[in-house]
Amino acid sequence: MAVLVTGGAGYIGSHTVAELLARGEEVVIVDSLETGHKDAVLGGTLHIGDIRDSAFLDSVFAQHSIDAVIHFAAYSLVGESMSNPAKYYDNNVHGTLVLLEAMRKHQVSRIVFSSTAATYGEPERTPIDETEATNPTNVYGETKLTMERMMRWFDQAHDIRYVSLRYFNAAGAHENGKIGEDHRPETHLIPLVLQTALGQRKEMKVFGNDYHTADGTCIRDYIHVSDLADAHVLAVEYLRGGGQSDVFNLGSGNGFSVLEVIQTAERVTGRSVPTVLEERRAGDPAVLIASANKAKSVLGWNPKRDDLNVLIDSAWRWHQARPHGYDS
Ligand code: UFG
Repeated sequence: MAVLVTGGAGYIGSHTVAELLARGEEVVIVDSLETGHKDAVLGGTLHIGDIRDSAFLDSVFAQHSIDAVIHFAAYSLVGESMSNPAKYYDNNVHGTLVLLEAMRKHQVSRIVFSSTAATYGEPERTPIDETEATNPTNVYGETKLTMERMMRWFDQAHDIRYVSLRYFNAAGAHENGKIGEDHRPETHLIPLVLQTALGQRKEMKVFGNDYHTADGTCIRDYIHVSDLADAHVLAVEYLRGGGQSDVFNLGSGNGFSVLEVIQTAERVTGRSVPTVLEERRAGDPAVLIASANKAKSVLGWNPKRDDLNVLIDSAWRWHQARPHGYDS
């Protein structure tokens, strides 16, 4: 039986495909390549197309014996989601509906879903566990929560069981040096810091230093992309083993401020990263740290690369090898 990975040419999707292949799984990938990269797909069978195209999905399900889906295909820029909500509802929510309908038609009853800490919004407690209220503060998080809710009703009506994985801040690159982070445009802290270390950017903008944190900058929980990939594979095994639908946070449980990330990157790279202070970025909560105890105890997840030095070092090796990402 094969695992279908939608968005398997994207950042977290491609690392998950690599992990599935390493474990001997048969992998089928669906990606429109709008934001994904063909070179990020290291194996398996790639079908280029859009998940909103039900005829296309039908033909993919008809060609392969698929027993589980891992669903990454979605837009994921918070800022863009606020200025163009329709784009996010159409691709993320409508796309997931078309996918679930195709699964129902082809009797595929397991789905692992790429969700986000943005489903929580401004948390009331830290670390954040899965009982925290979900009050997204942006359209991106709202669409991901809507997709989770849709899966809950498809489970009730059609026995399609789901695992939703809510990631905190994904970062780092595969140890094989062949795949890593390449977003266009890039908005994430660690790749921007490393592009600055490479001299591709003059300086690093620090968005606000007046938060209620020790050094005044925002604290985030950075988790290695290969540890995230491991969790997806474990979630497929959990569903194959008869596990019930559930939601899990994925993070390291450690928080680092923006300045701590920049200082660590300077140490790891041996280069200086000039900074300039900017206004706060709209919608940034001060502190987001996960409790991932549930994923550890229920899925048996064991993140192995959660030292910030290791994480930044892996990203740095990717950025040095591919200074212009997959175009290099
Ligand atoms: N930051 C800067 N300068 C930059 C870029 C980021 O100071 O140039 C700061 C941000 O203000 C934030 C921190 O670095 O405090 C991390 O920012 P990222 O953009 O790297 O990540 P976010 O925490 O904003 O968002 C990430 C994912 C989202 C997801 C969210 C869930 O990118 O998709 O985590 O918590 F929704």
